[in-house]
Amino acid sequence: MARVASTLAFAALAVAAPLDARHGSGHTQLLAPDGPTEYQISYGPRPYYIVQNMTEGPLKDKLMSCENGPFSVSGWSIGHRGGGTLQIPEESAQSEEAGARMGAGVLECDVAFTNDLQLVCRHSLCDLHTTTDILLRPELAAKCTTPFTPANETSDATALCCTSDITHDEFMSLCSKMDGSNSSATTPEDYQHGVASFRTELYDTCATPLSLDTFIDLVDALPGYRNFTPELKTPPADVPMPFNGYTQEQYARDVINAFINKGIAAERVWPQSFLPADIFQWIKEFPEFGAQAVYLDEEGETPETFETAVARLPSLKAQGVNIIAPPFNYLLTYGDENNDTIVPSSYATTAKAAGLDIITWSFERSGPLDRVEATEDYYYNTFAQAVSYDGQLYEVLDILANEVGVVAMFSDWSATVGYFANCFGLTGPVGGSYLNK
Ligand SMILES: *[C@@H]1O[C@H](CO)[C@@H](O)[C@H](O)[C@H]1NC(C)=O
Ligand SMILES: *[C@@H]1O[C@H](CO)[C@@H](O)[C@H](O)[C@H]1NC(C)=O
Ligand SMILES: *[C@@H]1O[C@H](CO)[C@@H](O)[C@H](O)[C@H]1NC(C)=O
Ligand SMILES: *[C@@H]1O[C@H](CO)[C@@H](O)[C@H](O)[C@H]1NC(C)=O
Repeated sequence: MARVASTLAFAALAVAAPLDARHGSGHTQLLAPDGPTEYQISYGPRPYYIVQNMTEGPLKDKLMSCENGPFSVSGWSIGHRGGGTLQIPEESAQSEEAGARMGAGVLECDVAFTNDLQLVCRHSLCDLHTTTDILLRPELAAKCTTPFTPANETSDATALCCTSDITHDEFMSLCSKMDGSNSSATTPEDYQHGVASFRTELYDTCATPLSLDTFIDLVDALPGYRNFTPELKTPPADVPMPFNGYTQEQYARDVINAFINKGIAAERVWPQSFLPADIFQWIKEFPEFGAQAVYLDEEGETPETFETAVARLPSLKAQGVNIIAPPFNYLLTYGDENNDTIVPSSYATTAKAAGLDIITWSFERSGPLDRVEATEDYYYNTFAQAVSYDGQLYEVLDILANEVGVVAMFSDWSATVGYFANCFGLTGPVGGSYLNK
């Protein structure tokens, strides 16, 4: 039960979906014209586990009422680093396929470049030592910026391996693994482990890395008309730009051109960057893509810079930014002086008042909620005292969806967000609707 979604169910839902301007019909073409006739969305047990742990009330009743579907792909659910990232190696074909199966309407590829200036999917240019088996490939490990150095009595084990250390073909020969490392490791074999305890190594069985081109092909071929969110990375200090003459500007251009070269319409692409210059370049050079560019904002990390980040929001809108994407801790704050309740923050209300749409990140990166206060987990650090059990995951999502009004949510486990989106009829931002907005 609880996972049945036939072609007919898709069609019925597509027709029934409300067509309001924001949560409109951007993804109502739910099955690709030449795709299979049936593709079942599968949320698995986790959404039900969360709902069962909720406190009795209208939100729990509403979410219970959706338990048997019908379930549909939703663009409100963005597959973070693929969408299976909680348990499946990030940025791999398997993580993308898991996010897709769990109903994510938009799938992410973080775009890094290789030594021969090809574009590949990796969250950081320099995380290959923790997200792949490169240290177990002696001929490739030797090319790392910092080869493996074992731990000893006084120092942790170290290594630093970047996509820019190797070629595209070498990158594609690696195995993707869960992000983790063992600082006590005395051998490269031991260094492979150390994944967070709430994740798993169950799927560390040589997951398939992706180039940007293979990512586009994979997502475009999925049933359900899935869309794309490439993130242009800011290379770390270890990879100074320009890199052998390759500029950030050309890198920004190459990401968009990869979609153009594949014939993907701009309305299906949500390009992201933390660098304002990248966003403004896209607005200027590729207006259709730039209009729906997602400006990732991480400029409010202290109380002082937070105020500055809030105050800056209207000017970003005035400069052509339509979608702002802060982490969700920026959007929520305590609603009472005992810190028992959660309300939208000044960031959230100011962004809305400025006419910005908000996408936020990233759900399901934090493990059980009973630990987030003690561990000072980043995503809950503005309201940690108000959450202590997993049923509250949907209370948090409800405030973000129905009070803040975010237009999409990145998640490491797409089912959790997809189930909620499906239940509330949230379909995500409407591709093509942002030009001249
Ligand atoms: C939710 O889970 C917590 C343990 O994290 C438990 O103490 C609580 O009783 C559960 N609530 C419900 C309604 O099941
Ligand atoms: C421990 O490792 C560090 C860094 O690799 C090195 O500088 C140091 O000499 C080593 N100490 C011993 C006792 O081997
Ligand atoms: C980390 O490495 C140390 C030293 O080799 C080893 O004893 C330990 O079991 C490793 N831990 C994990 C989680 O693999
Ligand atoms: C509520 O949270 C704020 C901000 O973290 C903190 O300064 C204050 O002491 C907390 N109040 C209580 C009653 O714990």
